[in-house]
Amino acid sequence: MTRSREPLPREAARTEGSFGEGFVMPPGDVLGVMGPRFDRRELVVGTAKSGTRLEVAGICKRFGGLHVFNDVSFSISPGDVLGVIGPNGAGKTTLINVICGMLPPTAGRVLLDGRDMTGKPLHAVSRAGIVRSFQQTNTFRTATARENISRAVRFSNGGESLWQTIAPLIDEFDLAAHLDEQSDKLPYGLQKMLGLVLACAVRPKVLLLDEPAAGLERRERLRVDAFVRHAVTELGCGVLIVEHDMELVRRLCPKILVLDSGRVLAEGAPAEVLSRKDVIDAYLGTMEGAEA
Ligand SMILES: Nc1ncnc2c1ncn2[C@@H]1O[C@H](COP(=O)(O)OP(=O)(O)OP(=O)(O)O)[C@@H](O)[C@H]1O
Ligand SMILES: [Mg+2]
Repeated sequence: MTRSREPLPREAARTEGSFGEGFVMPPGDVLGVMGPRFDRRELVVGTAKSGTRLEVAGICKRFGGLHVFNDVSFSISPGDVLGVIGPNGAGKTTLINVICGMLPPTAGRVLLDGRDMTGKPLHAVSRAGIVRSFQQTNTFRTATARENISRAVRFSNGGESLWQTIAPLIDEFDLAAHLDEQSDKLPYGLQKMLGLVLACAVRPKVLLLDEPAAGLERRERLRVDAFVRHAVTELGCGVLIVEHDMELVRRLCPKILVLDSGRVLAEGAPAEVLSRKDVIDAYLGTMEGAEA
């Protein structure tokens, strides 16, 4: 296990963040990366004792004449892991964009513990605890991994204690040895993991993960399992995962929702939903090697 106690860079940096607001990174903390690797328990979902509930009520999104989705409703309680699946172009990323404040909905409401977040800007929604990761990696490309994490920590007014909460992730993902490397020079798998660490550094209450396993090798995909387990059991988050990897969806998601042609085609337990003929016809049947 690699440990690092390098000081952070001394210069201040001002930049636009992935969480929607410019912020200042003042002269830095001392970063300690430590903590045991995750144990290999099975993921336990639905175990968070307290936390924040996301409610999406009758949400619609149109781009001009294109109705991406209409009247989508669901809720995510602390400890829930909801899978959102559907064919390419079904509107999964747009759904995340609307919930996290990157795009305004055409209609409907996004509530966080009953507080109306609808149409609020990304930075306000992020600070309230709805935090997304990106389908494509979305780090500050020319900054080091350490600087990226530091900026996210600063965005959420965190310090050493917040670093300590994310240190197990840095360790688990083998990022500790790469903290001083430029983020866009990291291997793709590590860039994806850095994206997940950044989401955790914003003190998430509800995580919206857009294809966290896309492009990862099988071994790396298990890190997504570990990440979700950490988010649920250690941070008490509710999690929404958009994925095309049905194995991962079956492993992680007790409940799934299928988006197709702008509507919720099906929702329920994976065993039931993934064996439905309409779901197979609309989505699974189009996937190479998919098992119903
Ligand atoms: N900003 C935008 N302006 C106009 N149309 C958009 C915009 N963003 C997305 N769309 C359209 O909305 C539809 C849904 O796109 P979206 O990216 O949400 O799909 P997706 O389900 O995430 O697909 P994939 O599985 O390929 O990632 C597509 O037809 C897309 O072209
Ligand atoms: Mg997408």
